[in-house]
Amino acid sequence: MTPPPSIIAIDGPAASGKSTIGKRLADSLGYLFFDTGVMYRAVTWLALQQRINIHDEGAVTRLTEETHIEVAPASQSDGRACDVHIEGRDITWEVRAPQVEAQVSVVSAYAGVRSALSQQQRRIGQRGKVVMVGRDIGTVVLPEADLKIYLDASAEERSRRRYEEILARGGEADYEEILAKVRERDRIDSTRAVAPLRPAEDAILIHSDGMRAEDVFQQVLILCNG
Ligand code: DC
Repeated sequence: MTPPPSIIAIDGPAASGKSTIGKRLADSLGYLFFDTGVMYRAVTWLALQQRINIHDEGAVTRLTEETHIEVAPASQSDGRACDVHIEGRDITWEVRAPQVEAQVSVVSAYAGVRSALSQQQRRIGQRGKVVMVGRDIGTVVLPEADLKIYLDASAEERSRRRYEEILARGGEADYEEILAKVRERDRIDSTRAVAPLRPAEDAILIHSDGMRAEDVFQQVLILCNG
């Protein structure tokens, strides 16, 4: 039997299920799960924390170059997929805050920020036995990945999943508001000048509208074992 691919890249838009599928896949293969989106979120969180103007590209880029962000396997079973630390502080949940969510697309469009973070991601990915998840893994960070998957779903389907997730956690949500935010993030992520969101030429596309998470996972497993 051929061994599974060592470097697996999963890209796709916000709320396409990349993290859920990627984490499950990494666990089942005994690989490292690396969610690159948390690094862009960590820089955004730190900039807000230090009251740096998010629109000051030079200042945000310098901050990124000076900061060591550590992404490590989950140390607690509180629903986290991995740990995120900055200067010894655990900010795993802080990076999910609405203020970060609202600004992260601005920060992730900066060329200098992308270059600094991509280099770190590349170093980790090249060690192998990794499932790396993001927007530009197959196109920019690890173009040599052994398996590239591009996970897509309509904005309506992704918003509905987000909406149901929040309700299931006992929260309150407005579907139309979520849909508007998802569309806005799609627009920014796919029209930015540097590393815009798009499938690599050799990526395998999975469009998951109408599919259950379990079906998507099974399809991905077949690709790995194929
Ligand atoms: O996947 P996420 O929602 O945690 O991503 C947060 C932001 O970071 C989102 O605006 C897209 C951006 N991102 C990126 O530009 N490149 C990546 N490899 C991962 C995330």
